[in-house]
Amino acid sequence: MSTAIAEGKTKLVFDVGKGRVLLVFKDTITAGDGDRRDQMNGKGEINAKTSAILFSELTKGGVKNHFIEQKDERSLVVRKLQMIPVEVVVRNIATGSIVKRLPIKEGHPFDPPLVEFFLKDDARHDPLLNYAHMEHLGLMRREEAIEVERLALAANEVLQDFLDPKGLVLYDLKVEVGRDGSSLMLGDELTLDSMRVRTKSNGEVLDKDLYRRGENLEVVKKAYVRFLEMVSN
Ligand SMILES: Nc1ncnc2c1ncn2[C@@H]1O[C@H](COP(=O)(O)OP(=O)(O)O)[C@@H](O)[C@H]1O
Ligand SMILES: [Mg+2]
Repeated sequence: MSTAIAEGKTKLVFDVGKGRVLLVFKDTITAGDGDRRDQMNGKGEINAKTSAILFSELTKGGVKNHFIEQKDERSLVVRKLQMIPVEVVVRNIATGSIVKRLPIKEGHPFDPPLVEFFLKDDARHDPLLNYAHMEHLGLMRREEAIEVERLALAANEVLQDFLDPKGLVLYDLKVEVGRDGSSLMLGDELTLDSMRVRTKSNGEVLDKDLYRRGENLEVVKKAYVRFLEMVSN
């Protein structure tokens, strides 16, 4: 295969022409802005499949995104986007960084959901951004940021509606966006690396928080597989 046009912590990107790229999901799992890193056998396949299923739900729900098709077990064909180096986080229930940064208690429900923007900059530990910062840094104009917020909230709603009947609670979700010409759409991935999901019945954690907490890789993988099975039928 040709050389990758980009490689990140968990994916490789190959230009396949006609305005498309191939995203190849690696078996790498990382935490702490890349400080901790392990190989989890089968993760690439699990995350490619999970992303394909969840992006298909967004498409059905009318939320603009890059997904075209799954190419092989660990690869997706997607629309090639000019990615904006911003992480957009939608929070339904408070956990993670927000309860450390702000006087908000673990488990606090946000209604409506809360949206935050962070600069993708591991060396700076992904600092929080407001509209003025994004405008100043040439990342997004205010009108674009508002549209991105709408996209992220729409994705959150579609995913909540999809996961709820399966007995799953979406605590929060991180999306990345890009430009296709002048149109904005969701790109990157929708996986347990980028969402927090717990079971409704007994609050079991199924996402990367297991790895962040130092659980062994077998436990993490079991949770990822269990989630994939739950969303597959
Ligand atoms: N549709 C797309 N078009 C072009 N690049 C994309 C698309 N979706 C995701 N990417 C890029 O793929 C790269 C690899 O992803 P990843 O391994 O998750 O990187 P990172 O370590 O920066 O999070 C990232 O730079 C991401 O912006
Ligand atoms: Mg990433």
